[in-house]
Amino acid sequence: MIANRRFTLVRRPHGLPQPADFALDEVAAPSLAEGEILVGNVYASLDPAIRGWLDDLPSYLPPVALGSPVHATTVGRVAATRNAAFAEGDWVVGLNAIEDFSVARPGGFLMKIDTDTVASPTHYLSVLGAVGLTAYFGLIEIGRPQPGATVLVSGAAGAVGSLVGQIARILGCRTVGIAGGAEKCRRLIEDYGYDAAVDYRGLDTQALASRIAAAAPQGVDVIFENVGGTVLDAGLLCLNEHARVALCGLISEYNSTDGMTGARNLWQLVVKTATISGFLVKEFLPRFAEGAQVMSRWVAEGRLRVDEHIEDGIHQAYPAFMRLFEGTNQGKMILKL
Ligand SMILES: NC(=O)c1ccc[n+]([C@@H]2O[C@H](COP(=O)([O-])OP(=O)(O)OC[C@H]3O[C@@H](n4cnc5c(N)ncnc54)[C@H](OP(=O)(O)O)[C@@H]3O)[C@@H](O)[C@H]2O)c1
Repeated sequence: MIANRRFTLVRRPHGLPQPADFALDEVAAPSLAEGEILVGNVYASLDPAIRGWLDDLPSYLPPVALGSPVHATTVGRVAATRNAAFAEGDWVVGLNAIEDFSVARPGGFLMKIDTDTVASPTHYLSVLGAVGLTAYFGLIEIGRPQPGATVLVSGAAGAVGSLVGQIARILGCRTVGIAGGAEKCRRLIEDYGYDAAVDYRGLDTQALASRIAAAAPQGVDVIFENVGGTVLDAGLLCLNEHARVALCGLISEYNSTDGMTGARNLWQLVVKTATISGFLVKEFLPRFAEGAQVMSRWVAEGRLRVDEHIEDGIHQAYPAFMRLFEGTNQGKMILKL
């Protein structure tokens, strides 16, 4: 028997997930039906979106069932195959789970990856994966910035946000990043090339809006929103006419116990004839190769800095996941299995 260690959901979280919501167990690795492959997961992507998948609420994926391993995008190697298109040892990326072995049926998001051309296979979970393509397509297709535009990014030091700021700069925009704390604001400027940084911590909407206005004297043409709540409300007070808000995520609201608070300054969209558009990176699946090609060129040219925060061992799954909500991740949060 091949043992399969799994990080499972045993209770639906109420608010911030607790250690007792999860368990580590060990079962026999599953057997394969015709057409399937067994993926030996090497790295799992810990994403804020996982929090939503733990709730039994309508979403774009079915919720994680109680007793089942928590879904995650993983990078791994084919350990066994009943699909002629895949050989043992092939590297793949796909939506699997936080466990040693996942059964996958090729198609959709599961694909082979070329690990010879990248510095690390983990890049398929960061800059060349859903995170990088969220930054790329969300900014270019939803934010639609023109050279010279001012782009405001919340969650700016995080996995998506740090790439959005750098891409906007490559496109010739002025960039203003919002992040929590002086150290992250230093990194916004020094590591990711933001023109200005704003620390949101301890500020109410009006105070934060004043700081953003000072950092963006020409007003804001594009908001790339990762946070929501007060941060989004403050950004909305600084919009220029015909501005675009690319609504990528609302992490400040994911652990709310009394429902999402929502933005309160939507009237600003009316008076500025601005647009707010939600998007999911999966909408751009047919164009992933195109986006990844541009991103890998920018990495090779040294124009994109990629930070990954890798924690080691399945027993670190809970504390590593919680770093996303504590703000203690220093780059794309990844678990090495
Ligand atoms: N639409 C899509 O297809 C798509 C795809 C991927 C990700 N996303 C979204 O993109 C956003 C960023 O994801 P990521 O993977 O790049 O995560 P990340 O930014 O690397 O990590 C999460 C960061 O969020 C900030 N944060 C956490 N709780 C917060 C709170 N209560 N208020 C304000 N900030 C808070 C923290 O930064 P600070 O220390 O600066 O507070 C933390 O480091 C999330 O909203 C995620 O759901 C959307």
